[in-house]
Amino acid sequence: MIPQETINELLEQTNIVDFIGQYVQLTKRGKNYLGLCPYHEEKTPSFSVNEEKQLFHCFSCQRGGTVFSFLQYLENLSFPDAVIEVAKKTNFALPNSVTNAPSQDSPTFALRKMYAATKDFFAHILVNTKTGENALKYLEERQLSDAIVEQFEIGYAPNNRDVLLKYLQQQNYSNEQLLESGLFVQSKTGELFDRFRDRVMFPVKNATGQTVGFSGRKLSATNDEPKYLNSPETKLFNKSELLFNLDQAKTHLKDEQHLILFEGFMDVISAYQAGVQSGIASMGTSLTDEQIYLIRRLTNKVLINYDGDEPGQKATIRAINLFQKKAPQVQLGIISLPNQMDPDEFIKANGALKYQAEVNGAVTDLQFELDMLEKKYNLNNDREKIAYSKDALMAIAKLDSQSARDVYLNKVAQQTGISLAALNADLLGATRKIKQVARNTQNLYPDKKVLPRPENTPALTITSKSDRAQARLLYLALHYAEVDLRLIAEEFVFPNENFEKIFDLWHNYKSTHEDIIITAFLDTLTNELQSIVITLEMIDQPTNYVDEEIFDAIQVISENFQTDQLQLLNNDLVDARRKNDQELIREITSKIIKIRRLLDK
Ligand code: CTP
Ligand code: MN
Repeated sequence: MIPQETINELLEQTNIVDFIGQYVQLTKRGKNYLGLCPYHEEKTPSFSVNEEKQLFHCFSCQRGGTVFSFLQYLENLSFPDAVIEVAKKTNFALPNSVTNAPSQDSPTFALRKMYAATKDFFAHILVNTKTGENALKYLEERQLSDAIVEQFEIGYAPNNRDVLLKYLQQQNYSNEQLLESGLFVQSKTGELFDRFRDRVMFPVKNATGQTVGFSGRKLSATNDEPKYLNSPETKLFNKSELLFNLDQAKTHLKDEQHLILFEGFMDVISAYQAGVQSGIASMGTSLTDEQIYLIRRLTNKVLINYDGDEPGQKATIRAINLFQKKAPQVQLGIISLPNQMDPDEFIKANGALKYQAEVNGAVTDLQFELDMLEKKYNLNNDREKIAYSKDALMAIAKLDSQSARDVYLNKVAQQTGISLAALNADLLGATRKIKQVARNTQNLYPDKKVLPRPENTPALTITSKSDRAQARLLYLALHYAEVDLRLIAEEFVFPNENFEKIFDLWHNYKSTHEDIIITAFLDTLTNELQSIVITLEMIDQPTNYVDEEIFDAIQVISENFQTDQLQLLNNDLVDARRKNDQELIREITSKIIKIRRLLDK
């Protein structure tokens, strides 16, 4: 149990806009900050964060809550684990009793703990033991500084069948957990062995910086073993959704304003050492839709710096197309390095400054496409020149901006000597074709990947006058102690069961806590009740009130309630008459009269 005081302090010193801003690109709209919901696929933002209230809410999936719920949903964490994570991210010192107590709530907790221990174990072997000397020498030859080795927490897995196995067994992990981790292979007889042997180990971390898997590079240039060996897919290691170094890169977004996409994670590390620190890379697979979604939530500017060889350039074209299709709002910059070099090689050959100059000289995606086309055709030959202009116009036709079109049309005119008038005329045709293609391919591959609503969290539906009055009253009761007291004094009961539950839990909370913070209260509720309170908090309504309003609301609610009761009693009366139950008829009639009198008042 984390002391409530600690949680409250943490809530007070954390700004939800800054915090969520590390995961979701937010733009200020009126009182709220808007962004794309990180929990499902969407093109128009329905995710909003309210700074004043320190709450977030998605109108589409109804998830909402405090910074803690934000992380709980995002990473499938238990509440205490979310508190610990938020504290870490905001440099808030938690009491030792909290940080040292392992929580068993989260299904992946044991795995994450095991990976953290493994990462430290390998790093220790690399840096402090004789066994690690060779690997350390290898890294030195690759010109990685000690600081960088430490920064990326690089390690070494010794050439041994079971050191890691024994190490983790000592820490009481079950065989099932060990198997699930992907760190071991199982023989036919069921025995476990270390998967990674004699490899330099690179921890792969998720967006929050937790180690979720590893990639191991072999030391020597033998042919029989793959150069890199990755963790197999596990509960936490999904290559299609991971981006190496995203956790560190996103902290540089504020200064560098962009992310840089690399082919290999060694390129990310080299560039980092050369002062270019917003690099990310997929783990040996080509770029996926999920990764694009992840990126576009964080930034509108992406540089691509794949290898300078032909496969690298082809992959660049593929990445450009994918971004144009799945994230058209993202501005692209392309860096192509000379002599078929990858960024790591370029930096080694030319130094950090030359490399930074290449990054600063990134060209637009369209310029890159035109350059690629130009290489394909011999512009001294008329037939090829015409073919080139045709391809170039198809590329230019994708641009929306007239000025941008103008810039590139002029370039093509200069290159080919074709008149601007002719190019402009052909551009019209190309534009029409592009639109047609777009229409024909629309919805063939819908990219919706909507996460199911969290269980039991229906949107709060306000249909009747009474609903509206109850919602308002509950909101005011939560915010004004005097309204709360008045309702208690009048022995008011919310006809809506969920409202009544919240009202009840609120009193319970108030009587058991010293500091009353509504966001902290929220964290104690079930998803369903949480969603209702968040909706109350996020709908537009006056924050202050007048006394008559309370009176009127109670009036509306009780009238509605009585009318409903009357309806029920009338039904019962019909029933009683049919059965000719005189006593029951009398009883019901007297109730009806009572309610009628109340309503007539
Ligand atoms: N990769 C892999 N398995 C391999 C080779 C490569 O998973 N057998 C992945 C790795 O994630 C690597 C990326 O593909 O980061 C790019 O491969 P490559 O260009 O060969 O890697 P480099 O960064 O050039 O590696 P190094 O400099 O260590 O040779
Ligand atoms: Mn390389």
